[in-house]
This record gives sequence, structure tokens and C-alpha cells, in this order.
Amino acid sequence: MIMPPLKVLHATGPDPLVAAVAQDHIVILVDVLRASSTIITALANGASTIIPVTTIEEARRLAQQLPNAFLAGERAAHPPPGFDYGNSPRSFLTAHIKGHPIILTTTNFTHTLGTPRPTATVLVGAFLNIEHVATTARALHRQRPRPITIISAGELDGTSVEDDLASNHIATRIQHPQDPPSYASADDLARDLLVTKHGSLLVHAGYKDDITFCSQPNRYALTPILRDGAFTAYSPG
Ligand code: MLT
Repeated sequence: MIMPPLKVLHATGPDPLVAAVAQDHIVILVDVLRASSTIITALANGASTIIPVTTIEEARRLAQQLPNAFLAGERAAHPPPGFDYGNSPRSFLTAHIKGHPIILTTTNFTHTLGTPRPTATVLVGAFLNIEHVATTARALHRQRPRPITIISAGELDGTSVEDDLASNHIATRIQHPQDPPSYASADDLARDLLVTKHGSLLVHAGYKDDITFCSQPNRYALTPILRDGAFTAYSPG
């Protein structure tokens, strides 16, 4: 089958996401350290949905309405008081979350995401799912051709090296799926991520192992997709 022309764009932050959603693009939101990696890992380990919310108060309010949901997230890298989980993807390698919704609030990812309209196509990408998210974006584009915009969540005050690196790899895999992948090994990626701005912050906060974890290309064959305000694992059809 002939692929319709593909237009892949790359931008950083909340404003380009709002614009891409308004123009009905397929959006891939990338926050390698750590929200994208956390969402992918939690769904891969059986969480039923991840419900992103922007504030801690909103998260607590929603938890009262959803007694079987877990509260997760971070401020300054650490879990807010009273939360069940932080934003460490490794903490979701547990069967306890199986079948449970997770309400997630983070400094940057959930702020960048905002509250897009329910019909928006928003996927989550990271090193953990490069190939799967690229294949999913291509499949959605085949179903209904439209531009694909990859948004690096970046930092509140600008771009982030690790998000741009993963975004570039995802873009390349979308555009040239027949070429051999060019991304580095997990060890080399981890070495590079440890010294980025946010990587160094996480090391100082005691989360060095999260960086190693988030540096594994294609650990999971899973793509989170936003449906009715919550992320679930994409399945075709
Ligand atoms: C965020 O969304 O700001 C990040 O994922 C922060 C982190 O927990 O490392």
C-alpha cells in the first residue's frame, strides 16, 4: 500500500501542542525524564488508565471520587505529601497497580499537556517505546492522513536535550522505518542522559537508577493514547 505523504514536525512546550491539537495533528508528547517513561511503564505493568491532571489539588479531589485509583506524581522530583507513588517509572514495576487507574500530576508533562479537547490524538513517546510509537503514528496516519507533530515537553524554562534526542529518533523512525535504527545502546544513552540538566537534577535528588531505566530503547511494545482525558494502551481497530 502506498503511504500518503508524511509531514513530521518537531516543537517544544505547551503552545505548539495547543496549536497542533487545534489543527487536528497526530501529537506525540515526549518527556523522557520521566513522565512519558512512567506512563509507558505503568500501563505495561497493568495500570488500567493514567489520568493526567495539572495540579496537586485537582489530583487529590479526583482521588476522592475514584477510591480505587492511586495518586502519583512529583514536585521538585519527589512525591507530593500523601501520594501513593512518585514519578519514578521503576516504582511501577509492581503487580499492585494491576487494574487500577493512576492519577498523575507532574511539574512539566501534565502542564505541557494541559486539557486538550477529548477528540485530540495524543500519543506518549520515550526511548522505552521508540519503535512502537513510530509504528502507531504511521498506522494512525495511514487511517487518516494528517501531519504528525512531536512535542518535546522540555523544561518549564526551555528545551531539554534528552527530549529532543528521543523526538529526533522517533521522527526518523516514522519517516524511514526501512532503515536500520541509529540510536545508541542503553549504556551509551544513560551516560549521556546522566549529564543533562534534568538528568543531573535527578541524580542529586537520588533517582540515578531512573535515568538508566529510561535510557533503554524499546523496552516496551506499547503506546499510550489519550482517550476521554486518560491514557490507555493503544490497540488497533
Ligand atoms: C515532569 O513532568 O516535570 C518530569 O517528568 C519531572 C520528573 O519527575 O523527573
